[in-house]
Amino acid sequence: MVATNWVTERDKNGCFWPTEAMKKKANVSDPKIYEKAAKDPEKFWAEKAKEGIEWSEPFKTVYEWKPPHYKWFLGGKINASYNCLDRHVKAGKGKKAAIIWVPEPANEKAITITYEELLEKVQKFANALKGLGVKKGDRVGIYLPMIPEVQVAMLACARLGAIHSVCFSAFSGESLKARLLDSTARVLVTSDGYYRRGAPINLKNNADIAVEGTSVTSVVVVKRAGIEVSMKPGKDYWFHELMDKASKECKPEPVDSEHMLFTLYTSGTTGKPKGIVHETGGYMTQAYWSCKWTFDLHDDDIFWCTADVGWVTGHTYNCYGPLSVGATMLFFEGAPDFPDKDRWWQVVAENKVTVFYTAPTAIRMFALWGDQYPKKHNLESIRLLGTVGEPIDEEAWMWYFKTIGGGRCPIVDTWWQTETGALLISELPGIGPFIPTVAGRPFPGVTAEIVDDQCKAVGKGEGGFLILKTPFPPAMLRTIYNDDEKYVSTYFTEYGPKIYFTGDGARWFDDKNIRVTGRVDDVMKVAGHRLSTGEVENAVASHPKVSECAVVPRPHEIKNEVPIAFVVLKGAVASDALKAELMDHVKKQIGPTAKPEEIYFVSELPKTRSGKIMRRMLKSLLTNKPLGDTTTLQNPHAVDHLKQATGYKG
Ligand code: WTA
Repeated sequence: MVATNWVTERDKNGCFWPTEAMKKKANVSDPKIYEKAAKDPEKFWAEKAKEGIEWSEPFKTVYEWKPPHYKWFLGGKINASYNCLDRHVKAGKGKKAAIIWVPEPANEKAITITYEELLEKVQKFANALKGLGVKKGDRVGIYLPMIPEVQVAMLACARLGAIHSVCFSAFSGESLKARLLDSTARVLVTSDGYYRRGAPINLKNNADIAVEGTSVTSVVVVKRAGIEVSMKPGKDYWFHELMDKASKECKPEPVDSEHMLFTLYTSGTTGKPKGIVHETGGYMTQAYWSCKWTFDLHDDDIFWCTADVGWVTGHTYNCYGPLSVGATMLFFEGAPDFPDKDRWWQVVAENKVTVFYTAPTAIRMFALWGDQYPKKHNLESIRLLGTVGEPIDEEAWMWYFKTIGGGRCPIVDTWWQTETGALLISELPGIGPFIPTVAGRPFPGVTAEIVDDQCKAVGKGEGGFLILKTPFPPAMLRTIYNDDEKYVSTYFTEYGPKIYFTGDGARWFDDKNIRVTGRVDDVMKVAGHRLSTGEVENAVASHPKVSECAVVPRPHEIKNEVPIAFVVLKGAVASDALKAELMDHVKKQIGPTAKPEEIYFVSELPKTRSGKIMRRMLKSLLTNKPLGDTTTLQNPHAVDHLKQATGYKG
């Protein structure tokens, strides 16, 4: 059988377009939808909220905006787990696969969990959580690897109206502790460990460090890697034992549309991660419609989003989105190169994945490894590709398009943030165009603009800062947990209380499509992970031998950016051993992604007269760019030493 062509040849403007076959297949293919939504975005979202989501009580007010706060679907009652599970079972889809879980060890078989089975597990675990005292509004920490118990735990919280806060499993115990303290979680769900490239990794040890001195009273432990762990009686409980005892029925608790569904901690421009707050009704509405329209999910699709569930992408596209539309999602435990560099493509071929969503950093890595790995497998089941997390360069885009998509499949380049909850800028596969390096058009009902530093809109072909305007899309953050002030200062100060500042630079490709060029603040994207320079600086500076430090990103061929540290020591002697010690220290404080790629020991950091570290100059030093006027520094003499240390050739 010849595989269907879903895109046309590239036209003279550099665009690919959906073919008739794609337009016919797609859930939406009429471009008029954009104009219709733009005319009255509130009406558009209200219609979509009613059409896509089941409400136990209808909402009365669509949108309320009292700057800097906004609310959606007021008066409406809803339960997210009901929308992801019960309604599909009621509609007769109970036997359909909800999750196909592929374990890392190649000798373990994939496990299919149907909607009916997932619903039963979620009800049981919700009852188990209840048994541990969890009530509506309580916070529950989740520190789990890529195993289906993570969706069970998230949905069980949602069922009770409890608020989950997932922490990436590769983060350290210290990082987890900071999150548990901030969210004052009552229960933590974790596992004994997990497999990473064949080796079992202990997670419970980290969890033990983390819960010490926090409000966590019970820890639930999933047995996954067969690791011997210590279990404190009265505090630690095995997941399977609680499940065995739990009753099978737990009614979903209808909550207000604006009830908090989860917090997710992410890096900002300061050292401390902030708890992004997402509520229920608006979030579910966009999770649903972005899966329907942008990922174009149909009943026969198998959707694989490779993101870890510890990130927002994992929340929206490895849980709430695909399950709310009743799709089948693939969930993979392992690394892309274990046991070999073709593992992902083997998983695609074996499971006939149709919609595949990953990050540019992974694409660049595969491109570098070579075509022989994907070529080993039949990838013709794929009909749509997606990317997220950072700008994608033309070379990586074309490699993805040709080698993975066989030149037949559209790529949706989806721009969004932890804060936006769901994707906001991307082409729709039935409408197009698909343009390498261009994310595309704001989703219907979303008003995004590019402005200059005076907040004046820039024209076609011009660049500036990406902003969002009211009505702010329903899935967007409502605040920062326990920190309204920071919410205002981060997002609603740059251009005043009426404009959401994304922190990204962007450029109009034409009068409709946007190219996002990357962060303009102190946020780095390291292999798709979000980190702030301040966060890494705090970790380095917490080492007793460090007097002062500055961290800046350096461009990296595969990972997009990597952190580089400039360190002034407290009298200690610089050595390779100390360098390794500091790198390890950061890894322990935050996690492996934050580990500086290089550390330069220097005698002084360049400072302005007011004492601020000139990070811009450090960046220029690393990229051999002109350093600008160095005479205005407080310590111009430091520059020669810095040039020498970094091997500056500018
Ligand atoms: C960047 C990830 C260009 C951007 C969902 C944003 C992108 C930050 C894209 C948010 C894209 C995300 N093209 N840049 N398609 N998608 N970004 O919170 O800088 O981890 O502000 O959310 O990633 O990262 P976060």
